[in-house]
Amino acid sequence: MINRIIIAILLLVTTTAAAQTKIDRRVDSVLRLMTLEEKVGQLNQYTADGLATGPVSGDDRKDEQLRQGKVGSMLNVKGVKDTRAVQTIALQSRLRIPLLFGQDVIHGYKTTFPIPLAEAASWDLAAIEKAARVAAVEAAASGIHWTFAPMVDIGRDPRWGRVMEGAGEDTYLGSLIAAARVKGFQGKRLGDIDAVMACVKHFAAYGAAIGGRDYNSVDMSDRMLWETYLPPFKAALDAGAATFMNSFNDLNGIPATANRYLQRDILKGKWKFSGFVVSDWGSIGEMIAHGYSADGAAAAKSAILAGSDMDMESRAYRDHLVTLVKKGEVPLSIVDDAVRRILRKKFEMGLFDDPFKFCNEEREQQALNNASHKAAARDMAKKSIVLLKNENSLLPLSDTLKRIAFIGPLVKEVKQNLGFWSIEMPDDSSYIVSQWQGLRERLPANTQLTYAKGCGIADTSRGGFEEALRVAKASQLVIMSVGESRDMSGEAHSRASLQLPGVQEELIKAIHATGVPVVVVINAGRPLIFNWTADNMPAIVYSWWLGSEAGNALADVLTGDYNPSAKLPMTFPRAEGQIPIYYNHFNTGRPAASDSDRNYKSAYTDLSLSPRYAFGYGLSYTTFRYDNLQLDKKKMKAGEQISLQLKVTNTGKYAGEEVVQLYLRDRFGSVVRPVKELKDFRKISLQPGETKTVQFIINKEKLSFYNDKLQWIAEPGVFDVMVGSASDDIRVKEVIELM
Ligand code: BGC
Repeated sequence: MINRIIIAILLLVTTTAAAQTKIDRRVDSVLRLMTLEEKVGQLNQYTADGLATGPVSGDDRKDEQLRQGKVGSMLNVKGVKDTRAVQTIALQSRLRIPLLFGQDVIHGYKTTFPIPLAEAASWDLAAIEKAARVAAVEAAASGIHWTFAPMVDIGRDPRWGRVMEGAGEDTYLGSLIAAARVKGFQGKRLGDIDAVMACVKHFAAYGAAIGGRDYNSVDMSDRMLWETYLPPFKAALDAGAATFMNSFNDLNGIPATANRYLQRDILKGKWKFSGFVVSDWGSIGEMIAHGYSADGAAAAKSAILAGSDMDMESRAYRDHLVTLVKKGEVPLSIVDDAVRRILRKKFEMGLFDDPFKFCNEEREQQALNNASHKAAARDMAKKSIVLLKNENSLLPLSDTLKRIAFIGPLVKEVKQNLGFWSIEMPDDSSYIVSQWQGLRERLPANTQLTYAKGCGIADTSRGGFEEALRVAKASQLVIMSVGESRDMSGEAHSRASLQLPGVQEELIKAIHATGVPVVVVINAGRPLIFNWTADNMPAIVYSWWLGSEAGNALADVLTGDYNPSAKLPMTFPRAEGQIPIYYNHFNTGRPAASDSDRNYKSAYTDLSLSPRYAFGYGLSYTTFRYDNLQLDKKKMKAGEQISLQLKVTNTGKYAGEEVVQLYLRDRFGSVVRPVKELKDFRKISLQPGETKTVQFIINKEKLSFYNDKLQWIAEPGVFDVMVGSASDDIRVKEVIELM
């Protein structure tokens, strides 16, 4: 059996290598025919007219340039009809090199999944991979070859609008999710009819923008870069990611776009990445504003030399690269390498064999939002909803409730549910299930569901309060749907205040004063701050943005058809002043033992040290007991491992899922180690009364870190082993030693 497996693996490796050699030969044969101008054309990417995801230069007659072979890729052209039309023009060029069509397919295409941060809250890698798979199937059927996802930037600052697009603050969880998303997008094999190329972004450290302000500078130690920010990129690369995107920020003074250390030394050097790197939108030209490049020519030169292969929208390569090569400032071999990388992907995608391979109207019709895709989106959405509070088991909604009020600015909203970075379907929003629709359809017909908007999301008018109070008073329970609007998070949407916008918290207070119990549903693209609500309201559900099945998924959770199982992938602060706040911080020399221990301690004089809700936190309608932690040994040598087992029991009356989290702490190190770090987890499902044994393996890898020489090592010493239901809810502990 083992022999057969080995032979199969060898066969696969040999076949893949042979296919690669064949592709390389074909790439070379095309390259030999190309003029310098045509080569530079392959490195140039434009957005479609009319649809922009950044500032548009809009100077040119693109059709003309497509015919002249001056464009290698387009973004924001979508749909079979349009991609076919644009590809047809590109194929009128001398060498008939097909275009690549790229698009930000971030969380679904037509069938819209929850925002990536919400999906991360599921800690369900199979569901996340499936979400990316469905997105790829739909996008590929709609003429798209390439998605600018996954974004794998670690996000520790909720002011940064783009935390919605990533997997949160944790490197371990983020790395697993990065790999799952790449696998989902790329499917079994690039070149399959339902696979799109992934683009891992933004390389690198974009998530650490100072002050959480988008596009801002990043100043970071190398050790932090390697230990916290780079691993998700490496995980995505190991999962086979075809392309990378660099980022807008400068890293320690060098724009990422011109950063040789990042792109040449790490990515293409140490990590041997064979795909290509696209710049971020205009980021080559923006190096002038950074104060790094004197002009477009200097920007183009630094970017290509540093390893940025394709220029998205800045036109710096188009305008300057030919001259730079002719003047000998940029070696032709560098341009050839970039072109080779891009052509290779076009061959791998099968576009030289059939440039219209992804252009089939019938397939497009069948693929978009079909029943199985909707089911996957609903499944992902219900798994993304976090139950933050549930006093007196107010949820799930009791069958005895006959008069429920659904109040708030987001109850009847339709498109808001899609969140930022969603693909708009022109003139069609019928596929999006509003929260009102989802709950109304789910509740028995004889349960009265009444509505009042109460107020807008951000405006200051209290004009709707009176009606809302009237509706609330006539009901036995109120559900309130409040939060941000979908465009308050996302790119270029950093916020300095993270409070519930407008007068929404005032509305909650007013409704609460009626004495009718209130369940609050909070919609947002980031952790918000809502202290009064958190202190005073009996039940709180964090729904993020759930996508096109939002209403159905929310109804599943509110009614108890689905028992919530999600856990926060980011820490929720009590105040903006605590930011950046994350669970895996250092202890400092003066740690405060509690909030009353402030004297000359690392604390705030005016605020608790603890977060509002910790990383890994999330409730269920049932409860879980952790006990019986057993280790097969307590000491291990570097080549050994320790097996750890514990029992988890469902002690409540609902079936439910629990994310059992393993944290480790290295008590002393040659560099200071965090107070705890997530190292593994299991999501298990338990019937009421059922007990399951959960096993974890601790090996040297899990005990390793980067020392001050950037070596990945495990140092002998004592480690705390902690297993719990959240980073601040450790249920069982042990101590082990690495000898
Ligand atoms: C964003 C990228 C995105 C690109 C194309 C940029 O502004 O930073 O993440 O992929 O636009 O839309």
